[in-house]
Order: sequence, then structure tokens, then C-alpha cells
Amino acid sequence: MSPEGKALEALLHENRVFNPPQAFVEQANIKSSEVYGFASKDPEAYWAQAAGRLHWFRRWDRVLEWDYPKARWFDGGLLNVSYNCLDRHLDSWRRNKAALIWEGEPGDSCVLTYRDLYREVNKFAAVLRHLGVKRGDRVTLYLPMIPELPIAMLACARIGAVHNVVFGGFSAEALRDRMNDIGTKILITADGGYRKGNIVPLKENADLALEQAPGVEKVIVAKRTGQKINFRQGRDLWWHELMALAPPYSPPEEMEAEDPLFILHTSGTTGKPKGVVHTTGGYLVGTATTAHMVFDLKDEDVYWCTADIGWITGHSYVVYGPLANGATVLIYEGSPEYPRPDRFWQIIAKYGVTIFYTAPTAIRSFMRSGPAHPARHDLSSLRLLGTVGEPINPEAWVWYYNHIGRQRCPIVDTWWQTETGMILISPLPGLTPLKPGSATRPLPGIVADVVDDYGRPVPPGKGGYLVIKQPWPAMMRTIYGDPERYSRQYWQRIPGCYFTGDGARKDADGYIWVLGRVDDVINVSGHRIGTMEVESALVDHQAVAEAAVISRSHAIKGEAIVAFVTIKDGIEPTPELANELKAHVVKKIGALARPEEVFFTAELPKTRSGKIMRRLLRDIAEGRALGDVTTLADPAAVNKLRQAYAAEEG
Ligand code: WT7
Repeated sequence: MSPEGKALEALLHENRVFNPPQAFVEQANIKSSEVYGFASKDPEAYWAQAAGRLHWFRRWDRVLEWDYPKARWFDGGLLNVSYNCLDRHLDSWRRNKAALIWEGEPGDSCVLTYRDLYREVNKFAAVLRHLGVKRGDRVTLYLPMIPELPIAMLACARIGAVHNVVFGGFSAEALRDRMNDIGTKILITADGGYRKGNIVPLKENADLALEQAPGVEKVIVAKRTGQKINFRQGRDLWWHELMALAPPYSPPEEMEAEDPLFILHTSGTTGKPKGVVHTTGGYLVGTATTAHMVFDLKDEDVYWCTADIGWITGHSYVVYGPLANGATVLIYEGSPEYPRPDRFWQIIAKYGVTIFYTAPTAIRSFMRSGPAHPARHDLSSLRLLGTVGEPINPEAWVWYYNHIGRQRCPIVDTWWQTETGMILISPLPGLTPLKPGSATRPLPGIVADVVDDYGRPVPPGKGGYLVIKQPWPAMMRTIYGDPERYSRQYWQRIPGCYFTGDGARKDADGYIWVLGRVDDVINVSGHRIGTMEVESALVDHQAVAEAAVISRSHAIKGEAIVAFVTIKDGIEPTPELANELKAHVVKKIGALARPEEVFFTAELPKTRSGKIMRRLLRDIAEGRALGDVTTLADPAAVNKLRQAYAAEEG
């Protein structure tokens, strides 16, 4: 182990605490811990005060109606999300402030002021209205990280349409299933997007998806890459041609607080992704407040969250939270490593980024490419760092602190989920002493705990389930088309609590250490993938009889997907077939779900009741007990292990 590695090891045992630097404390948005007391004594008053950050056409009648597990927040209130993110700022000096600073992967760039963004959103809202899109209609967005994506989201919000962003890395089939799940009428896509110097053929994927998505009437195509694409007369329309004809203003709909704002799919423990439904009032209150508190947003900041807008992080903390605060948001289209591993640091220096929010997987890959890359760039504009998506190992935390924040910047480790809509557990950067690897404490107004199967709190230091005990404004309201699954999966598992699916422990100071998923969900590079989804993709291949998917730890990605497959009689288990199966998963879901490894096995180890022994598979995949594992899992070895387990358990 290197000397630095040894120091980090020592640090782990030392349990060091990092206090916020005095200079940060003095200017912080939240300076006093009184807010915690106020929020816990009178949560409704606290959230009402938070709602006061927004513009309401009509004030709400009641802050919260809680009929377990159904919540209604700010009922009776009327507001519009695009009005809050745009129109409101035009009455102030912010009208000419940069709202979006955009940089494309090839190096092209543009700046949209709040006025510019307002005009584009108004025009696109008019386009959608002209095409017959109405309040409550669903609109799917399958776009790269270009300004058209936030413009289209805000335009949907303006007219009360419900957007459904599908991450550009998902496959045609994944796009098709999501569009059909929610009954989309309009798809907005682009010819392509840039990624690692290549073109992602979005329109080509969309065309495939549309073959089996008969409900889609119109397809709006933004021109990004300019390559040749198929265009279907009457169905496909160019973004720029529609915009050229659009009027500059389109009035915002007055939406009910509980009207849906968007649906975003996320993986669960079945083969079918869940359409998580978020609403208008509570969601914006939650994201706007937490963006202000956790990221300490100021008008002078250049704020950069590196998440793709196709994930919840991008919805809440690239688009809605920051824009509701009138912030300047940086958006970068491409890969962190293109054309060289220092692209992020070059962007930070170029635009003077002050707040930088990224994922542990990215930090670990920066660690691997070495500190010389950031060291070459002027990162002195940075004042706050953030992380999200998976547990951060203390080594990566300390590296981030030293080499990116240069020991000046607090790090906010923010725990939350697609379902929670907003950050729930996080330090407040001017207030909370930090412990590397811990998301620290629940935010004001949030009641979280670590409990056993019966909902009883476990003692400090013991592992248990992470649960949330009180409703919060940005919580999901339902799963689209499946309210029963909403109740069962989230609210009936542990009595009286919202079940997060995460394991955690609480230390003696009340700090929460999230340990990772306890269900059949894998977190690859901060992206959630259901083992069942990958299994169904595998058994869809004609050679496969049965498949079991598990995860094993991975130095960069956190977790990697490993598949155990039994194939049909008469088919050869070759390395070529393994590659073909990986490619099949990519075709069914997308590159993010590509198995790291496929092991062929004569049979899957099962208990007498037929349950797959996943722990055993995990041990094989991690190389425990078996030593080196080769591509073809040795059936004899599987049997031996199974016998060993049976003996241990019997
Ligand atoms: C799962 C949610 C909204 C964040 C992006 C991913 C894991 C998220 C942390 C963190 C430890 C974290 C959890 C959670 N997770 N943030 N700071 N520390 N784990 O959203 O796809 O809905 O996944 O990501 O396991 O349940 P998601």
C-alpha cells in the first residue's frame, strides 16, 4: 500500500471530523441550528415558511393532509413551476443574468440569460399548445444534455403537461416501454448527441421505439449533430422550424399544487420500472428550499451539477431547484474524460464554477487518473463540493476534499432518491461537522431513523433499515398506473414508515451512514438497476434457459453487474455467446446495464424451496472461497460451495 493509502487507512480509524471553515460559516445561508428545532416543533409552519419562497397565484388552504400513505401538500394553492423558475426573475435585475451556461462536448458553448430562457420556453410552450398538447397530457423527452432539454421541461410545466424524461443512454426498447407505460402523445428527441467523441443515434433509437408505440402522434426533433436521419412526413417535425413560427409569449397555466409535474421511471425489484409521479407545489417547495440550504446558493454562484437531466438529480438540482432560486447553472453535454481526463477541471477553470456536485463513481475515476490533472487547473473559484448517488468511501471523500476542494471547501454528501424528489439527509455546509463517508443528519423537517423489521430503532452502531417517519413535500405521490405497488413497496414493509430500500447505521452522534441497497437493486455508478430487469433481458435471448443476476463490488463503479446463466441443451457456452448476451442486455435496457461478467453454469444453486441462493453467487462472483474465477463457472465448484453452505446452515 502506498504511503498515502496508509495515511487514509489511519484516518479511517481516527474518525476525523472536518468542521466548516470560518470563512464559509460567516457567509452561509443557514448559520444557526435553530432551524432544526423550529422544523421539528412545528413542521407545518416550517414548510409553510419554505413555500413562501415561491410565487403562488393563490395561497394554499392547508399545508398538509396526511392520510397514510397518501399526502396532499399545499392543497388549494395555485402556482406554475415555469413561472417560478423564469417569469418571477424577469421583474428583477436577474433578467439579464446567465440562467444556463452550456458547454457541448466538442467545445461549442452558449449562454442563455433568464430572459433568453424565458423566451425559448414561451415559444416552445406555444409550439406544444399548437400541436394540441393540453394540461395533464404526457410528453416524453429523449434528448442529450442540450438547452432544448430544460427548455422542453419548463415548457411542459408552463402548459401543465406532464413530462417524462428518458435518459439518452437507454435503449430503443426501454424508451418504447416507458412511452407506452404512460400513454405518451408527443416525443421530443434529437438527431443525436455527443458522447466520448461519438454520436449517440437518438433519432434512430426513437424510430425503432416508435414502431411499437402507436399512441405517439408527433415527434419533434432538435438538430444537434446534423447527421442524416429518417424523417416521417406528417409525424416528424423539426424543432427549429416550429420555433421559427412560434409567438414569443404563451401564458402559464395556473396549476393545482397537487397536479402532476412529471413522471420519472426508476428500477425496482420487479422486471418493470416504476413511473414515479411528482407533483407541482410540494416538489418545487422541497427542491427550491434544499437547493438554497444545502448548496448555499447565492446570486454570484456558478453552480454545476454534473448529473444528466435524465435522472432525478438533474430534474431537481440542474433544473428546478437552482432555477427557482435564480441561480446560474452550468450544463455540460459530454463525458468527463473527453478529450482528456481533465475536462471537468478545465470547465471549472473556464467558467469559474463555485459549487460542484458530482457522484462518487466520478470521484473514484478521477482518483485513478491521478491528482496531476486537477493540479494543472485553477480551481480556486470552488467554494463548495457535493456528492450523490451512492455511499462514498472515505478515501474518495478525502481525495475530493484535498485535490479538488484543496481543503477549503466543505463537502455535502446528499442522500436521497428518485422517490424522495429532494435531498433528505445531508450536512448544512455552514453548520454541520463532516465525517467522511456519512451523509450526516436529516435536514430540518425530515424525520429519518434506522430500524429493524418491526420499525423499532436499532441501537447506535448497529445496522438496520433506513426509514423516513414523516411525510415531506417533494415525496412521490404514487407509481403511475399502480397505486397499490406504491403502498405495498414503500409504506407497508415497515409499520408506520417510508421504506427506502437502503441499509444504514447511526453512530453515537446521530450521524447516518448509508450502507447501500438491501433489496434486489444494484447501484452501478450511481444508477439504479433492478436485478430482475437484467434477468428478464437475459432470458429473452433464445439461448438462455435461466438467469440470476447479482452485484459484486467494483473499484470505480461501486457495484458491477454479474450474471449467472444456464443455457438451453445443445448450445455451446462460448465466450462469444457471453458477449452476445451482454450485447442483448444493452439492446433491451441500455449500456448502463451491461453485465461486467457472464458466468455459464449447468444449474443455478437453489434452496429446496426453489429460491436462488444469491449469497452463494455473490461469493463466487467476488472470488471468495473459490480463488480465481474464470469465465466459465465450474459446476463442480458451485456444487461444492452449495454443500458447504448447506452444512453451515443446516
Ligand atoms: C439510491 C437512490 C437521488 C440520488 C441519485 C440516485 C443511493 C443516493 C446516496 C448517498 C449513499 C446514496 C441509495 C438510494 N444513494 N445518494 N449520498 N449516500 N447512498 O437516485 O437512482 O433513485 O437511487 O441511491 O441507495 O436508495 P436513485
